[in-house]
Amino acid sequence: MNRLRTAILISGRGSNMDALIEAARRPDYPAEIALVLSNRPDAPGLAKAKTAGVAAAAVDHKIYAGREEFERSLQLVLEAYRIDFICLAGFMRLFTPWFIEQWRGRMLNIHPALLPSYRGLHTHERALADGVKIHGCTVHFVVPEMDEGPIVAQAAVPVLDGDTPETLAARVLAQEHAIYPLALRLVASGVARIEGNRVLGALAASDARLLAPEGPA
Ligand code: GAR
Repeated sequence: MNRLRTAILISGRGSNMDALIEAARRPDYPAEIALVLSNRPDAPGLAKAKTAGVAAAAVDHKIYAGREEFERSLQLVLEAYRIDFICLAGFMRLFTPWFIEQWRGRMLNIHPALLPSYRGLHTHERALADGVKIHGCTVHFVVPEMDEGPIVAQAAVPVLDGDTPETLAARVLAQEHAIYPLALRLVASGVARIEGNRVLGALAASDARLLAPEGPA
């Protein structure tokens, strides 16, 4: 099987990264995690990636004059590792249209809300403030507009009476760890494909297979 050489881009703790690395250990998984790349050299996820035996590198955005200079360095590293596909997993930098164009149709992001609701930051606080009863997470292809792009997978969670932003975030995060490996599997295997603004062949959140963990082999 030709596995899709995938890079995970992180800025922080990397729990979604862990879930993707774990899923990709399965021999039948259609993607391999060939690189973890961070814009922050001190991101805790980098050490975890190395411990898991995955190549890890940092390109510190602070040392570049502008966003495109930073992105050209990222691009060189991605090319050096012969990367075919990118998963953003808590990567907290916005990209220029130039970088997004390089990876059009080949870059996924996970967002901690049911898009198109709650784009941007502080999604759990805002959901609680609005009193919504259903919240969740979304995996989508990256397009130039922030937190937009064809949706591959979503999972919904209930908002409970006693929830704080932290308890709600934890409930959503558990679902993130389930749907991201699933979404990458669907895309890397060619089952899910973009048509216009939709992804066909993807799953509805009610599909039982969505709940099946992409656990260790
Ligand atoms: C995740 O909740 C992810 O959805 C969110 O950051 C967290 C990263 O956690 N991403 C965004 O907010 C992107 N705008 P992790 O480093 O443990 O995967």
